[in-house]
Amino acid sequence: SDERTLVLIKPDAVRRGLVGEIIARFERKGLRIDALVSRTMDAALADEHYAEHVDKAFYPPLKDFMTSGPLVALVLSGDQVIDVVRALVGATDGRKAVAGTIRGDFSLSNRENLAHASDSPDSAKREIALWFPELD
Ligand code: CMP
Repeated sequence: SDERTLVLIKPDAVRRGLVGEIIARFERKGLRIDALVSRTMDAALADEHYAEHVDKAFYPPLKDFMTSGPLVALVLSGDQVIDVVRALVGATDGRKAVAGTIRGDFSLSNRENLAHASDSPDSAKREIALWFPELD
């Protein structure tokens, strides 16, 4: 059934000129773009967005990376969009992500992995409220 998810096209993708390539994949799949903005994460937003990771060893460099420049945040909708988008994005580590996925085709890193996508209905709801409070 119809759902919404939050995607962040990360600063590495913006720097590499891959924003259009990544959005095109979502569009060609048949997903709708309900909201889209270019924004630079600040430290407070990073800590909120990644609340479940703030105590992990990989978090300080992740925070530095995610706040290093503009990213593109979007809300996508469609049938089972949370799982569909995670499949399109691929596994966290770009070195292990399957070819044909966004990370599998364009990333060689488990940090600079081009895109974030909500991993469950609860996180989608929380992340959409955080990035797009004006969306109901
Ligand atoms: P993302 O889907 O945005 O969710 C958490 C992010 O943390 C992940 O993508 C990676 O960018 C990063 N990440 C997860 N695990 C590691 C790790 N082991 N080392 C470095 N970065 C990681």
